[in-house]
Amino acid sequence: MRIDIITLFPEIALAPLSESIIKRAQKADLVEIYAHNLRDWATGKHKKTDDYLCGGGQGMLLKPEPIFAAIEELSTEESRILLMTPQGKPFKQVMAQTYSQHKHLIILCGHYEGVDHRVIDELIDDEISIGDYVLTNGAIAAAVVADAIIRLIPGALGDERSHQEESFSDPNMLEAPAYTKPNDFNGNCVPDVLLSGNHAKIDAWKKKQALERTKKNRPDLLDD
Ligand code: ADE
Repeated sequence: MRIDIITLFPEIALAPLSESIIKRAQKADLVEIYAHNLRDWATGKHKKTDDYLCGGGQGMLLKPEPIFAAIEELSTEESRILLMTPQGKPFKQVMAQTYSQHKHLIILCGHYEGVDHRVIDELIDDEISIGDYVLTNGAIAAAVVADAIIRLIPGALGDERSHQEESFSDPNMLEAPAYTKPNDFNGNCVPDVLLSGNHAKIDAWKKKQALERTKKNRPDLLDD
């Protein structure tokens, strides 16, 4: 897979993708990641990438011309083009699974008040939000989305089972609480059942705990 991120802040997008599992996935040629500076496609003396809103309003908007030029240069028949924006569809694990099967993703990062709507009309396949809050720029969101996608590419995680049991592999249930050693930490003990070796009992305990946790932290998932 190849991922091209278009942003005014390539370093922000790349930093979280340059360590640990995602670094190893790149070394193993499972994914190629490129972060491009949108300014490289801006023309004129000042290489302007933004401008005032038509009709008035606070802030600046990314101009269409450099974005059209960037996407014309980077896209192929196989590209899926995503825009990071708080106005987008909420990003979910099932979307990460679908995108992890694509050959080429282009992730365009919004900045300031966003992008000229003609970009969305003509170039963007999916508008994506990583949550109901506003970040200073979409490069942070692009790194989050890229990370969630890349770790699902077969071979990226050492143990293939590790993403079968985790939260959101069942999209309506969180994971059960987990413990490691020591068995007794300042009087707070690992539940006996987890030390029992009885796998049927352990599975039943995990299911019950997962449900309790979901009820407490994400009751909305159980309404779905
Ligand atoms: N850009 C700014 N805020 C964002 C969000 N919540 N999701 C995606 N892109 C964004």
